[in-house]
Amino acid sequence: MSLFATKSLTALMDEAGAEGSNTLKRALSATNLTTLGIGAIIGAGIFVLTGTAAAQYAGPAIVYSFILAGIGCLFAGLCYAEFASMIPIAGSAYTYGYATLGELVAWIIGWDLILEYLFGAATVAVGWSGYFTAFMRELGWNISDKYTTAPFQLHGSYHLVPTGSVVNLPAIVLVLLMSTLLVIGIKESARFNNVIVFIKVAIVFLVIGFGFMFVKTANWHPFIPKNTGTFGHFGWSGIVRAAGVLFFAYIGFDAVSTAAQEAKNPQKDMPIGILGSLAICTVLYILMALVITGLANYTELNVPHPVFVAISKAGPGLAWMGPIVNIGAILGLASVVLVMLLGQPRIFFSMARDGLLPSVFGKVHPRFRTPYVTTIVTGLVAAVLAGMLPIDQLAELVSIGTLLAFVIVCLGVIVMRRTRPEVNRPFRTPFVPVVPILGVVGCLLLMLGLPLETWIRLLVWLIIGLVIYFTYGRQHSLVQREAQEKGASGAD
Ligand code: ALA
Repeated sequence: MSLFATKSLTALMDEAGAEGSNTLKRALSATNLTTLGIGAIIGAGIFVLTGTAAAQYAGPAIVYSFILAGIGCLFAGLCYAEFASMIPIAGSAYTYGYATLGELVAWIIGWDLILEYLFGAATVAVGWSGYFTAFMRELGWNISDKYTTAPFQLHGSYHLVPTGSVVNLPAIVLVLLMSTLLVIGIKESARFNNVIVFIKVAIVFLVIGFGFMFVKTANWHPFIPKNTGTFGHFGWSGIVRAAGVLFFAYIGFDAVSTAAQEAKNPQKDMPIGILGSLAICTVLYILMALVITGLANYTELNVPHPVFVAISKAGPGLAWMGPIVNIGAILGLASVVLVMLLGQPRIFFSMARDGLLPSVFGKVHPRFRTPYVTTIVTGLVAAVLAGMLPIDQLAELVSIGTLLAFVIVCLGVIVMRRTRPEVNRPFRTPFVPVVPILGVVGCLLLMLGLPLETWIRLLVWLIIGLVIYFTYGRQHSLVQREAQEKGASGAD
């Protein structure tokens, strides 16, 4: 039995084209897919991390960091677009890996994507809880810290100690509400997401439009603060370090590809959804970064709510915008959680249909036509993580997991072009192999910028995954079983 057995393209195409009560419902248009992408992208990255990145690493030059990280994502996005239009399957990068690099690599990506989607959802839910509680406090409703923060915190790198708190209730409630919506229907979820995205993008436009009128250009001088002598602290190395941190802000455009089996016209619309959402958010991020660092001096931005702080620095002229910015962040983070909780179950769903996870995970709800078992399981696990653990510190683990998937997808494009050049590719990544290679190099560089601890956590996570694969997945894999049956009939 080969660890590198690939799944046949014919089988994948059949799966992608299948219709019936046991398949997911095709309800999403190109606009829905693009708003799903924007829903997943604009969130904690721009509303929280921008400040830290500017104050600690790059100053106003976070604008360059956003451009750098955006270019890295563009290379990966072009590769995702080719695969998503060629193999429009809910398993996304996991499935692309299965078709090109074989089962073991596919399993590794599938397991790794849990870091992006499940841990990502829990992480952003914790961030959401912080914004929500602060907003409620301003409205006069004071919820005790005991019910809004995690009962454990990290002491040093690895020890959990009790905090005296009971549970992070708002984070749990958000995850459960979003999961319920996702069980009820893809169309309903997409509609809800459309409304949120409309409001949050309108708020981002307001911040950019009005913000520019109050910018003090003195705050942009020096645009690239001089390096302090330490690598990563301002200067060009600081820009690269900040790009690694701000990569988190772009995560999510790839989640569009997990909705491939629910798209009405995936071949044409997948690339639009993936690349369209990425392009729109890149432009908005660059403009936001200019406004934020123009309103406040970058040294004042090392706070959990930098957009709000920047607005308040503009004086009474922009004071009316404070609450609006908070609403933008609350809505923004909620839709990120929604789309992450949409992505994860679909990957589990594909893995179960391939036999690598128990078959109950491959069930589709007879009425709602959603992968309800995996949606419920994902929701429950994410709720426990978000409610109990200090998971907000794991944003870097989410980033490294996502970057690893990007690297493998870029490699997959090169492999597939060589092994199956004849297959119809409704969207072709331009300049292959240059673009995928640049994607691999760019993502690896961003990974190298992340701390050693994050690498160790990734390694431990992958080892746990391998144990599960060798004790369960390998024995139950349909591809392996078919190969065995073929082998046996050939021997007869
Ligand atoms: N890009 C998403 C965010 O910034 C994960 O919240």
